[in-house]
Amino acid sequence: MTTGKTIGVTLLGSTGSIGINTLDVISRHPDKYHVCALSANTNVSVMFAQCQKFQPEKVVMVDPNCAQELQKKFKKKGMRIDVESGPQALCSIADQLGETIVCAIVGAAGLMSTIAAVKSGNKVLIANKEPLVMLGEYIVQLARDNATCLLPLDSEHNAIFQCLPQQFLAHLNGGGNATVTEDLDIKNQGIKKILLTGSGGPLRQLPLDKLSSVTPDQACAHPNWQMGRKISVDSATMMNKGLELIEACALFGVSENMIEIVVHPQSVIHSMVEYIDGSILAQMGSPDMRVAIASALAWPNRIASGAKPLSLREIAHFDFEAPDDSRFPALRLAQNAAQSGGTLPAIMNAANEVAVEAFLNGQITFDKIARLVERTMERSNRDNANDLDTVLAADHTARMECKELLCASFN
Ligand SMILES: NC(=O)c1ccc[n+]([C@@H]2O[C@H](COP(=O)([O-])OP(=O)(O)OC[C@H]3O[C@@H](n4cnc5c(N)ncnc54)[C@H](OP(=O)(O)O)[C@@H]3O)[C@@H](O)[C@H]2O)c1
Repeated sequence: MTTGKTIGVTLLGSTGSIGINTLDVISRHPDKYHVCALSANTNVSVMFAQCQKFQPEKVVMVDPNCAQELQKKFKKKGMRIDVESGPQALCSIADQLGETIVCAIVGAAGLMSTIAAVKSGNKVLIANKEPLVMLGEYIVQLARDNATCLLPLDSEHNAIFQCLPQQFLAHLNGGGNATVTEDLDIKNQGIKKILLTGSGGPLRQLPLDKLSSVTPDQACAHPNWQMGRKISVDSATMMNKGLELIEACALFGVSENMIEIVVHPQSVIHSMVEYIDGSILAQMGSPDMRVAIASALAWPNRIASGAKPLSLREIAHFDFEAPDDSRFPALRLAQNAAQSGGTLPAIMNAANEVAVEAFLNGQITFDKIARLVERTMERSNRDNANDLDTVLAADHTARMECKELLCASFN
């Protein structure tokens, strides 16, 4: 329902973990936000409940059968909400509806709708990290060209964003709302490095010889965060931190050697920025995505998120350590991909999506995920170019290669 006074939000991937948290924050501020459009893939029951509560103008269910099922439910209840299906419909809501678009689809499936959102010239909140891994520089440039205000929702990148000098933020958001600075080089802002923190996931202390028998439920049982299954497995392998490294390079215009990964099991410091004078600025908060969502939704202002306040007295101490390379080989793969650039990050991302799905389906053991990704990266031809067509072709070929490897030698 559009009120004319409140900000319209289009939420891509509303039925997932980020989507549900975003709607929770929105529901706390009916005086500020209303929902214009929602999208999901197949989850009709959650989408129906969300539509009853938020009354959007339009819904996209990517799966056509699910779109029909949802339409029938609306008819039965006398609800007048447009339902469309297919990936193209996702792009049209991203482009046409809402002053704020939240990209919360999981995986490369969100690439084209992210591009459509970024072309819109509106405010875009991006959680969907895989498109930034595949085509980050292109997406950031597109945001600048279209004066789109691009804000990170990933808690680490949102933390880094909050710790950057105010005058530099235009680099990230295309000059949408901040003071535009002439100098887009992060090194000229007195920044020495970015400290990207990660918890180390649920398997940080499991004996290495037990990794082969880890079940999907064990890998998804993150000690601090409630997330979708794909990112939960990525956190257990620390590929998530590898993807975030590449995401940070694109968003903040830095090379991978300016980013240090630090394991911080409490997940309270969400990342830090170190300056040349020795100051380190950190953003802290409860491990609850609503903190980052509220911060980006209201930026440059502040709104309540609903997250439990952080009690430093209860936490009592912070731990930090270097990541263990033998336990987390995915980190090395991501560092190589970031260094190499071109289509290698997209190849790695595609292989990882196939490998994680194979693990969740019981086709491979946990310890084979990184190996399968590595073999795919070795076999695939890396291209220097990273325009949209080249990257889409690399993504497609890497998925085929990875599936071939899966059939030939990994089962
Ligand atoms: N969860 C977190 O705390 C967190 C934190 C930082 C960053 N992120 C990033 O945010 C993104 C979403 O993560 P999540 O944990 O919220 O994932 P999730 O819980 O698995 O939700 C994914 C959403 O995407 C939709 N979707 C799945 N496949 C699709 C397809 N082929 N086409 C269109 N829509 C599709 C799902 O619809 P259905 O429900 O119908 O399947 C759902 O709405 C990921 O890129 C993740 O890395 C997540």
